[in-house]
Amino acid sequence: MIKFGIIGTNWITQQFVEAAQASNEYELTAVYSRHQDTATAFSEKNGGSQTFTALDDFFATGDFSTVYIASPNSLHYEQAVLAINAGKNVIIEKPAFENQAQMEKIQELLKQHPEVRYFEAARNIHTPNFKAIQTQLTKMPVVQGASLTYMKYSSRYDQVLAGKEPNVFSLKFAGGALQDLGVYPLYDAITLFGMPDEFNYFPEFIQTGVDGKGVAILQYGEFNVTLSFGKTTNSYMTSEIYGLKDTIEIDDAGELGEATYIDETGKRTLISEPVTDNPMLPEARDFARVLNDPENADNQADYDRWLNLSVQVNKVLFNLRQSGKIVFYDERDN
Ligand SMILES: NC(=O)c1ccc[n+]([C@@H]2O[C@H](COP(=O)([O-])OP(=O)(O)OC[C@H]3O[C@@H](n4cnc5c(N)ncnc54)[C@H](OP(=O)(O)O)[C@@H]3O)[C@@H](O)[C@H]2O)c1
Repeated sequence: MIKFGIIGTNWITQQFVEAAQASNEYELTAVYSRHQDTATAFSEKNGGSQTFTALDDFFATGDFSTVYIASPNSLHYEQAVLAINAGKNVIIEKPAFENQAQMEKIQELLKQHPEVRYFEAARNIHTPNFKAIQTQLTKMPVVQGASLTYMKYSSRYDQVLAGKEPNVFSLKFAGGALQDLGVYPLYDAITLFGMPDEFNYFPEFIQTGVDGKGVAILQYGEFNVTLSFGKTTNSYMTSEIYGLKDTIEIDDAGELGEATYIDETGKRTLISEPVTDNPMLPEARDFARVLNDPENADNQADYDRWLNLSVQVNKVLFNLRQSGKIVFYDERDN
């Protein structure tokens, strides 16, 4: 069993803990929260025996090998540094880090701690349906780009409309649409097509100063991939990957609930499976496989691939953000 601790006690951590438990590979042992009553409540509900309100104590005396970090984006870097220095494996929520400088420091730190494994929790690329899309793509001799959409109204946008600034819509916490739902189609694109040559982001700003929605264009040698994402409205537009006369249609580039191959005659073949499990279960299983047997050649290859993807996504994300002239508070000179 992989003993793990958690940072952040919102619904996403609950979902990850349930996925981890459903995989039968993990045991929750330590809960960190800024508030003792929150840590106690989470622990009583989910079984962690140790609770902490000080991060130093959590990493120094917590009985765990792996930490799942689901704090606001702007805190990921400093918490990951503490974790790696303490020799803990890190599963960090997307987007892992704010910029390339942070990512480079993490890569350096990982070299100094070769026993530590680091995973960015990009759940979509671990799912069976993503793998089915990847397999279908290898059978298509011509690929001419894609249009990928993931746009869902966030209940926290209600708070923005009421004059508040929740973390996910705050420049202070490295929030905004690109940093949130934008990460999923970006992961889809880079995993399927590799690194683009050029990239531009056209954000639409909201009153808190972050992007509420926007369009990113990734330019590859012979085609473009357009990403549409946002948190201030709902889109029901399907996503598509274009062949010559054939197409893959995806209901939603973030959830990947249903994918269909449409051949040159228009005949439709469902290539996805119904999604019934916790959406974080495939990644929890993948990470456990590597943590349980890191020296296995296949596991090592998967690990290297995911790490490389995380570095590439971080790079494009940062450059897209720069092209959209989005600067977080902790990056400003004053
Ligand atoms: N993979 C997915 O499907 C998915 C879905 C949603 C979110 N996420 C990612 O998960 C991460 C957390 O997102 P979220 O929406 O849950 O964030 P959030 O609600 O703003 O904060 C998450 C947790 O961090 C702690 N926290 C909140 N404000 C803080 C502050 N000012 N200083 C220090 N700690 C603070 C809180 O835990 P305590 O009160 O216990 O300290 C809170 O439960 C983000 O990186 C997000 O992108 C991923």
